[in-house]
Amino acid sequence: MLLLIELIVNGKKYKLDINPRKRLLDIIREDLQLTGTKEGCSEGECGACTVIMNNKAVNSCMIMAVQARGKEIITVEGLEKNGELSELQKAFINKGAVQCGFCTSGMLMSCKALLMKNQNPTEEEIKRAIEGNLCRCTGYNKIVEAVLEASVMLQKEV
Ligand code: FES
Ligand code: FES
Repeated sequence: MLLLIELIVNGKKYKLDINPRKRLLDIIREDLQLTGTKEGCSEGECGACTVIMNNKAVNSCMIMAVQARGKEIITVEGLEKNGELSELQKAFINKGAVQCGFCTSGMLMSCKALLMKNQNPTEEEIKRAIEGNLCRCTGYNKIVEAVLEASVMLQKEV
């Protein structure tokens, strides 16, 4: 039996008939073809699948379809506006915080969720925000530097 769910993804409303055993990650990647969100461990440990659901960073591999009903989701595809990368994405590039890139979309979403509630985070707060996101390449420092740079740019915008 299919389950009808409505949800908003990157500002767009969707009504979908889906297999209730699907996870939010499957809906995003398969039904909506938003493949920027990655699947790593599939068990809530690596953070590669992180998206923002109702303003909070969540592991989309651990959210069942029914839990996503009526929710507002932001994926990495929702970060750029009118074809221009967000300040956070630009800062990741400037600081060399992207290497193999597998963790990057999840990392960006955890950092974005932090900046949505705190535009001026400390290093400690950034480290805490990304503690559920594993990165094998960067050593994390460049990511922390990128978030600090983005926070400066965001405050200039206000
Ligand atoms: S794939 Fe979801 S946390 Fe690893
Ligand atoms: S850039 Fe390769 S895992 Fe993070």
